[in-house]
Amino acid sequence: MGNGAPYVRRDIWELSHENTWHPVIEWYGRAVAILQRRDGTDFADPTSWSHLAAIHGTGLPPNAWPAGALWRQCEHNSWFFLPWHRVYLHHFEKILRAVVIADHGPSDWALPYWEYSDPARPETLRLPPAFREKQLPSGKVNPLLVQARGPRMNAEGRLDPTFVAVDEAWSQTGFTESAGGGASGGFGGGVALRLAGHTPGALEISPHGSVHMGVGGSHPRGWMSDFATAGLDPIFWLHHANIDRRWAGWLSSTRRNPTAREWLQERFTFGSGAARTELAAEDVLDTTKAPLSYAFDRLPIPPVERRAAEARPGLTTEGRMRDGAPKVAGINDTPVPLTDAVSTTAVRITAPPKKGLHGIAVERGGRVFLKLEGVRGQRLAAGVFLVYVNLPVGAQPADFPDHRAGQISMFGVAEASQPDTPHGGGGLNFSFDITELVTRLRTKGQWRPERVDVAFAPVPDSGGQVHPDADVSVGRVTVYYV
Ligand code: C2O
Repeated sequence: MGNGAPYVRRDIWELSHENTWHPVIEWYGRAVAILQRRDGTDFADPTSWSHLAAIHGTGLPPNAWPAGALWRQCEHNSWFFLPWHRVYLHHFEKILRAVVIADHGPSDWALPYWEYSDPARPETLRLPPAFREKQLPSGKVNPLLVQARGPRMNAEGRLDPTFVAVDEAWSQTGFTESAGGGASGGFGGGVALRLAGHTPGALEISPHGSVHMGVGGSHPRGWMSDFATAGLDPIFWLHHANIDRRWAGWLSSTRRNPTAREWLQERFTFGSGAARTELAAEDVLDTTKAPLSYAFDRLPIPPVERRAAEARPGLTTEGRMRDGAPKVAGINDTPVPLTDAVSTTAVRITAPPKKGLHGIAVERGGRVFLKLEGVRGQRLAAGVFLVYVNLPVGAQPADFPDHRAGQISMFGVAEASQPDTPHGGGGLNFSFDITELVTRLRTKGQWRPERVDVAFAPVPDSGGQVHPDADVSVGRVTVYYV
């Protein structure tokens, strides 16, 4: 199924089952080694490995950048996340393909993708085998193996299944939600200016951010866990090829991209000279057409479900709210530390709607949200935290999956906590639609109209650890409704 597109991005685990060093994978390894040799001392070659990674982020101060470098540009926590990374991957793939061809490899080489979310294939929670091998088939050092990864990820370690969850992303009907005050990130992220995002979309959180943290580890953070180093791990590009594929798949049902000109006409520029790519979001909405011209061997399709647009009359097809700004029901702005144990807080409902929040939840079109703002800090107890509502006192969170509101990933938290960077100092915001959760708890007799208890549970890393030395906190917890 190539839709006639000349390039087909294929599933790395399927290729790996055929052969750890399937030609598509071996050529990737060889080409990465060639790009790495172009690094030199200053990374000035726009087709060198470290130059390409620094486009995403770099620890080098701007006065140490080569002339004309367009570095530290990654778009996160906003509606530009998906199109920016799509163009970034396209830029990278063009450069890689040229190297493969010059080295007498296949002229239709395309970046494979790492799909890890299929519960029928638990082996895919591990890094594909070629990323754990010491040597290329030629006997040379394998550049796909990097040491700066989470515990045991280069051995028998695997991602926690919660890190690859796609259900939250898949259930989103709107690409973005932008009602007054900013509701939630929807599928693709909150409305924001360039490099100023604070609200990730559901796909950016999981699997995207959580897989970053799972591969890179949280304490210390390996390459995949920071914007400045993520692109240096060759698995980054296959992870993003899969996120890109999820976007393509999500659209193939009733779901739509934004139609706002501020999104469609935003342009993304990469590289320089002969290695330059400049495209707008509107140029890359169909991957099978020029200038992209790639298809995926298989697209994941969201289940057609009851939560389709007509079941949510409060929303337009883009996911914008029709009835104006969300209303606050209660706020708690005492910071909650995210530690190596379960931490809890409570929101007193001080402005309940007439029928109560549970009344809103069962009403046609009414929705209830839990919003976490100002998540910031530098040292992480874990890479991912699960968020629960109204857990019984002393309960083991894992025993109460039906109380789970969602997850927050720490990818980008450190960056969003530094006031002197383009990603701002305000921390990250997360927003969960808890409408169905409220209904469920009410049915079980576990909903109280006057107060919402919120608990945060760390998910151990691939080595089974959580870490006591942490300083991340949630600045404010709000419950609101429309
Ligand atoms: Cu810009 Cu997955 O990162």
